[in-house]
Amino acid sequence: MTTIIRNIGALYVVPPGPVAGPQMADAVNIISHAAVVIENEYIAWIGHETDLSTDIHPLADARGSDRRTTNNQRPTTVIDAAGQAVIPALIDCHTHTVFAGTREAEFALRCGGKSYEEIARAGGGIRSTMQAVRSATPEQLVELARPRLQRMLQNGVTCVEIKSGYGLTPDDELKMLEVIARLRVQGAASFSLRGPLDEPHAALPELVSTYLAAHTIPPEYAGQADKYIDLLFSDDILKRVVALGTEYCDVFCESIAFSVEQSRRLLQAAQRHRLQPRIHADQIRQIGASKLAAEIGAISAEHLEQIDDAGMTAMQRAATIAVLLPGCSLFLGVPQTPARRIINAGIPVAIATDFNPGSSMISSLPLVMSIACSQLRMTPLEVLVACTANAAAALHRADRLGAIVVGHQADLLIIDTPSFDRFLYEVGHYPIRQVLQKGRVVAGTESR
Ligand code: NIG
Ligand code: FE
Repeated sequence: MTTIIRNIGALYVVPPGPVAGPQMADAVNIISHAAVVIENEYIAWIGHETDLSTDIHPLADARGSDRRTTNNQRPTTVIDAAGQAVIPALIDCHTHTVFAGTREAEFALRCGGKSYEEIARAGGGIRSTMQAVRSATPEQLVELARPRLQRMLQNGVTCVEIKSGYGLTPDDELKMLEVIARLRVQGAASFSLRGPLDEPHAALPELVSTYLAAHTIPPEYAGQADKYIDLLFSDDILKRVVALGTEYCDVFCESIAFSVEQSRRLLQAAQRHRLQPRIHADQIRQIGASKLAAEIGAISAEHLEQIDDAGMTAMQRAATIAVLLPGCSLFLGVPQTPARRIINAGIPVAIATDFNPGSSMISSLPLVMSIACSQLRMTPLEVLVACTANAAAALHRADRLGAIVVGHQADLLIIDTPSFDRFLYEVGHYPIRQVLQKGRVVAGTESR
């Protein structure tokens, strides 16, 4: 199966990540009047349309989305990008997309002056979502999460990381991971059952699963965090976590959650089961969490609103990726992470939504990208690298996702603007003609 995307006004050639801080500014090569050839699931050729080889060139004259047949009868689909821009599909590398219930009452309290920390200390916050998740069946959680993921796909996101962390008992944490596993299987099944261009709405983003039992200390273990860690990070539970296809272990290393010592201990237990560490670090107070991320070899430290110089130095030396969550700071009304200082320190930066019902009820990664431009003072091209190449690296998928190079998976967006700057500039309105996942059109206004 061959697919040709022709008539691309601007092809944003993003290299594989991670791209470190200052290099993010000029990592992207923009080819005008470009074409892309896809063989099955992978990118086979990129370049100027006039350089397309002669055997596929006649097909490149076709208008519109069309199926043709080459001389050797291999089916070929031709997609006309109508002179608009093509970028890699987006990757949301930090979300809490599986949840039940909503927390608009807390949102109203915060708008009236209460802080996230005050609400959490008064028993609200994560614990209120915990009650709703414990009461929900796996089937209910799947049904709640699926439309959220479909919306993300419509917004151009073809890979999403999802954390557990609202169950906070062994059974309820495993239930959340099982929900993610079921959704992963559903997304994969849409590929094996259907051919190109059929049933685009059955598709889901590729899912990456993270065990976040150390999200907060549940009320039953108040004052007994170490006992809770012993229970949730026993060899038996961790084996079951891994058996559900979970790749990462995360911890909220914070003054209102787990200490540095506790975080180190539980992440090391997870590492013994080959769960890769990542950390919610330096969000509310500076307690040394980003330094721990570097010390323990975590792939990423995430949030970093309160990062200090020592944390930056340690992360740069360890090549830890900084995952910034500007939608969360905007939603909570708190100061943003010092992105420019982190970039200047030579640290690779990724950006994600942190989509969750408490601190970032924002599921649109393009919206968060516009916020990153204006609030973090990052250029659109830096933000593009952050949400593609570097986000892929933060999920150990940089060899396959997040870049436009021959051999990479053909996850691409044909956006409905002539440039990527224009796409982020029209804040809140993100027209996408087609979303391609593994070379197949799975969403977009021109998905048929
Ligand atoms: O990444 N900081 C901790 N966890 C989430 C918030 C979760 C919640 O409030 O439900 C975050 O912001
Ligand atoms: Fe988070």
